[in-house]
Amino acid sequence: MNLWKMYHSTLPSDIWTMDYLKSKIFRIVSSAAKEQGVRAFVIGGYVRDCFLGRPCKDIDIVVEGSGIALAELVAKRVGSKLSVFKNFGTAMLRFREDRRSDEWMEIEFVGARKESYRRESRKPIVEDGTLEEDQQRRDFTINALAFSLQEEDYGALVDPFNGMEDLRNGLIRTPLDPDTTYSDDPLRMIRAIRFATQLGFTIVPESLESIRRNKERLSILSRERIAEELNKILKAAKPSTGFYLLEDTGLLEQFLPQISRLKGVETLEGKGHKDIFAHTLQVLDNICPNTENLWLRWAALLHDIGKPSTKKYEPGVGWTFHSHDFIGGKMIPGVFKQLKMPLNEKMKYVQKIVQLHLRPIALAQEEVTDSAVRRLLFDAGDDVDDLMTLCEADITSKNDKLVQKHKRNFALVREKLVEVEAKDAIRNFQNPITGEIIMQKYNIPPGPAIGIIKEYVKEAILEGEIENNFEQAYALMERKAAELGL
Ligand code: CTP
Repeated sequence: MNLWKMYHSTLPSDIWTMDYLKSKIFRIVSSAAKEQGVRAFVIGGYVRDCFLGRPCKDIDIVVEGSGIALAELVAKRVGSKLSVFKNFGTAMLRFREDRRSDEWMEIEFVGARKESYRRESRKPIVEDGTLEEDQQRRDFTINALAFSLQEEDYGALVDPFNGMEDLRNGLIRTPLDPDTTYSDDPLRMIRAIRFATQLGFTIVPESLESIRRNKERLSILSRERIAEELNKILKAAKPSTGFYLLEDTGLLEQFLPQISRLKGVETLEGKGHKDIFAHTLQVLDNICPNTENLWLRWAALLHDIGKPSTKKYEPGVGWTFHSHDFIGGKMIPGVFKQLKMPLNEKMKYVQKIVQLHLRPIALAQEEVTDSAVRRLLFDAGDDVDDLMTLCEADITSKNDKLVQKHKRNFALVREKLVEVEAKDAIRNFQNPITGEIIMQKYNIPPGPAIGIIKEYVKEAILEGEIENNFEQAYALMERKAAELGL
């Protein structure tokens, strides 16, 4: 059942929502709740995603009573291991429809709360509440929808805040006054923007205003939680929606000032440069249909962060951004650190792509020589295809002729990359001459001569003076060694 059908359906909700409760687990929870004399409901993202036709394997169950106690009984009945998080008053188990299935669902149980819903708070939960009290402390009306699991009205939709109407109209709205909802958990300000981006929804004006007002409250959040939301925005089909909203509300400046700083156009002698913020977001949107790789999307977002600090107006030439690729690359570890993202090979990958992002462009503008292609293959290695994908996305000119020209040139570079790679196998270049070989042959200890010879051989291969094979490399080593008097 999709939104369209729902909208046009005249059936009462408690009949057709049954479609969404087909899994055996719901009946099991229902009867366990009955046995314990408590009311249980499916709530939150699962309910929302049912109506939106989005796949959802995480199920949240809210109980008017102890979430942990109900989870214990359910776990016993399905023979599953239970993870209990006493501090949060929650418990989680995994369930699959039958033994052969490898599709697991995660079922999380929580007691209904009167106090604010703080999933990550370290404070123990103090006050138990009713379903409606729990619903009103959730983030958005579309996330506060619940299905009843009681025998008497099994599958009935419980929607005290008109979440269904907001779902139909594509609106992000808080159940309570937005200032209250956002101060309960300021991460919700970014979540609002994330949901708007993922679902193509609109944040209602009073909520947007409240985010602007409360933007400073972001400072109490852990950077990891912010980064997690940012990743979700980046994984959406059109991430620019999220970044425009983050900028517009003043949130972006707080955790990614390097991106907000890209905004604006300076004009001198009647010459302006393009707005790098808008350009960056267009590049980001452009790359999305061509890659699911989150880190390549990060590279697209960050590819021009070196521009503000390298910007210069050169009379007669116009605006220049010399070495912004290099400077941008140097800035990447700082950005990752600031968001507490891992400083591992993912960071190095983003840094490399940013640092190399002008190379294929330079190549496409000149005659494409084999040696330039070999050098690019050498520097980019296996990431050369991703680099090309970024460069193609980087074409944002409004001049269609120019766009076509760039595209043709890049197609040529791609062809050439395949051709040269087939011939010279440079991609994961390993110098045929190792230090070991040189030391053995000339019976010398480690020293500068080894580096000189290796570099000489590598350069000759990249320049195409010799082929990338052992015989030719060995002969060249002998010549160079003789020259050095070995
Ligand atoms: N929730 C909330 N405030 C938060 C986080 C979560 O009120 N800061 C509530 C919402 O009702 C939400 C539910 O907890 O639907 C589950 O949270 P979560 O799993 O984080 O989000 P989902 O809505 O399931 O969506 P997604 O999986 O895309 O994050």
